Amino acid sequence: MNIASKAGQFSLGDRTVNRMGYGAMQLAGPQVFGPPKDPAAAIAVLREALESGVNHIDTADFYGPHVTNQLIREALHPYAENLVIVTKVGAVRGPDASWNPAHSPAELTRAVHDNLRNLGLDVLDVVNLRVWGDMHAPGQESIEESFTTLAELQRQGLVRHLGLSNVTATQVKQAQGIAKVTCVQNHYNLTHRNDEQLIAELGRQGIPYVPFFPLGGFSPLQSQTLSSVAARLGASTLCVALAWLLQRAPNILLIPGTSSVAHLRENLTASTLEITPQMLAELDGLA
Ligand SMILES: NC(=O)c1ccc[n+]([C@@H]2O[C@H](COP(=O)([O-])OP(=O)(O)OC[C@H]3O[C@@H](n4cnc5c(N)ncnc54)[C@H](OP(=O)(O)O)[C@@H]3O)[C@@H](O)[C@H]2O)c1
Repeated sequence: MNIASKAGQFSLGDRTVNRMGYGAMQLAGPQVFGPPKDPAAAIAVLREALESGVNHIDTADFYGPHVTNQLIREALHPYAENLVIVTKVGAVRGPDASWNPAHSPAELTRAVHDNLRNLGLDVLDVVNLRVWGDMHAPGQESIEESFTTLAELQRQGLVRHLGLSNVTATQVKQAQGIAKVTCVQNHYNLTHRNDEQLIAELGRQGIPYVPFFPLGGFSPLQSQTLSSVAARLGASTLCVALAWLLQRAPNILLIPGTSSVAHLRENLTASTLEITPQMLAELDGLA
């Protein structure tokens, strides 16, 4: 049994994936812009992830832009049959590395075709509509036009499943009136827990919730409580943060990001890390 499968499985669209996946955003250059310093190292991370049993990779064509998807293609194409690649649309990058919303029907259609081309696919497994909101927190805008556009691209056979990112429970319901929502990807971790109710509601519906910034994002989580629990478990603080997410709810799928094989290997060990109820209570107090 490989390490990623030890965290258990959950359904994602018409497949079952290991709950321990991988987020590819960190593979592009600084500020997620341009190529990495060492493309061979980025390819090594992707291949190591697959060899360790990861069968769920999160990406976006606006990482780089195009760079991350091209690295995935170079490292892993032709893709293993059990690999699910989840991508996002809804943003474009400026020449200054800025992140800008791109939600018009023409922009979303272009983004789906960019993903197909750069990943080397005829059909995308899962496309998340990345709603703009407040960059890392959802806003209140209607997603009717943008999700309807993606539903049309799904009807055309370019996309198997649709998901959402950076959304409220109201936006999830709005989308579900248009097409099936296969997964939701929002900002959530040990110290950022706005989505408790949404996670539970999605769990009741059998829909996976995929936290972005599971380790805290560009500034990984640090806290005395986390360090104390990690020391008692003989694990790293970031593995404890991942194991806490795995124990939080069965419908949580993990996509921790790293550009390093050593960090990837360390993060995967969270699959077998058991946090005691007493330590969970201490960690729950962090929010
Ligand atoms: N939907 C959205 O809007 C959205 C937004 C952000 C991210 N995402 C997705 O979510 C995935 C995860 O988020 P993320 O990568 O931004 O943040 P993250 O997983 O919370 O943390 C990544 C950061 O942690 C560091 N790190 C990872 N493992 C480590 C370890 N064992 N020891 C020390 N440092 C470690 C990484 O640096 P190293 O490279 O040095 O390991 C990187 O700086 C992304 O890859 C992306 O696919 C989605």
